[in-house]
Amino acid sequence: MSLVERLARPEILALEPYSHASWDPTLERLHANENPWPAYGDGTPSGLNRYPEPHPHEVEARLAALYGVRPDQLIAGRGSDEAIDLLTRAFLAAGRDAAIVCPPTFGMYAVATRIQGARIVEVPLRTADWSLDEPALLAAATEDVKLVFLCSPGNPTGCALSKESIERLLGALAGRAFVVVDEAYAEFSSEASFASRLAEFPNLVVLRTLSKAYGLAGARCGALLADAALVALLGRIIPPYSMATPTCDAVLAALAPAGLAEAATRIDLLKGERSRLAQGLAGLALVRHVHPSDANFLYVECMDASVVLARARDAGLLIRDFSRGARTPGAVRITVGTPAQNDRLLEALARP
Ligand SMILES: Cc1ncc(COP(=O)(O)O)c(C=O)c1O
Repeated sequence: MSLVERLARPEILALEPYSHASWDPTLERLHANENPWPAYGDGTPSGLNRYPEPHPHEVEARLAALYGVRPDQLIAGRGSDEAIDLLTRAFLAAGRDAAIVCPPTFGMYAVATRIQGARIVEVPLRTADWSLDEPALLAAATEDVKLVFLCSPGNPTGCALSKESIERLLGALAGRAFVVVDEAYAEFSSEASFASRLAEFPNLVVLRTLSKAYGLAGARCGALLADAALVALLGRIIPPYSMATPTCDAVLAALAPAGLAEAATRIDLLKGERSRLAQGLAGLALVRHVHPSDANFLYVECMDASVVLARARDAGLLIRDFSRGARTPGAVRITVGTPAQNDRLLEALARP
C-alpha cells in the first residue's frame, strides 16, 4: 500500500470525483449552461461568460517549469492557502487525526486543521535561533499525526530552517507522515528550495506561491509540489474551474520571459532594501533587535511596539502587530516596501 493510500482519509480515497463538462476549445459551447454573451464591462479576450479550463494545465506546466518539477508533481490552486486546505481535507479526519505546527508560524495551518475538526499539536521553535526542536517534534509525532507543517523561511520569524534538520525529520517520518515545507518566501532566501528533493523523500510536500516574489497576491495562485500520487489525490478533490480566467492570464504573462526578468530585478531590489531597512531600524532608539531575514519582511523586537505601530500609522503605513502573541512579545513584522516607503518608515520612527 502506498503512503498516500495509507495516510489519506478512506472516504477521500473512495470518492467519485465531480464529472465536469468536457473541455474542447475548438467547439462552440452549448453544454455548460453558460450565458452566450459576456457581461457588461467585460473586456477580456476570452469572455468571462465562459468557464475557465476545469484544471489549468497550461498554468501548471509553466509553474512546473518554474520550480523544476514534472507537471504531474504539481497542482495549482488559489494561493498556497488552498493547498493547505486541500491537504487537511485529504488527510485529517475529524476527531481522529492531527497535524503538527511549530509556532510562531503562519496561522493558516492551524485554522485549516481546526476547520477540519482535527487536532493541532504545537511544537514551538526554539526562541534563541528559531530552530526546530527535533526531539520534541519526533516525540509529538504519534500515529494520528498525518501532517507536519514547517515554514521556511518562517513567517513571522523571517528565518530559514536548517536544511539538515528538515532532512532528518523527513527521514525519521518516512512512511509515517507528510512533512509540508512551506516555501512562500523562498525566492528571497539564499537557501536552496526543497522542490528538487521530491524523488529522495516521498513524504515531502513543498508549497510555493506567486503572491510574494512574483507580485500576484491579488490573482491568487499558489502551487503544491509532491509525489505524483499525492498530487493525483488532491486533483480529485479540488473544485473544478478553481482558477479564474483573469488569474490564468495574469500568471501566464508574469511567467513569460519578460515577466521573469522583471521579477528577478525586483527580488534583488527588495533584498537590497531589506538590508538597508534592517540597518536603519537597528540604529533606532525604539528598536530592541532586528532579526536576520531570508524573506521580504523583518521581524523586529521593539522597546514599545505600540509607539512603533502608532508612528508608522501616522506616516500612513501599516505594519503587523505581533507584540501581544505569547511567543512574539514586543514584536512587529515589517514588509519591505519601495525605497520611498522604507525611507518614510525610517523617518517616522527616527523622530525624537
Ligand atoms: C508562510 C505562508 N504561507 C502561505 C501563505 C499564503 O499565501 P497565498 O497568497 O499563496 O495563499 C502566506 C501568506 O502570507 C505565508 O506567509
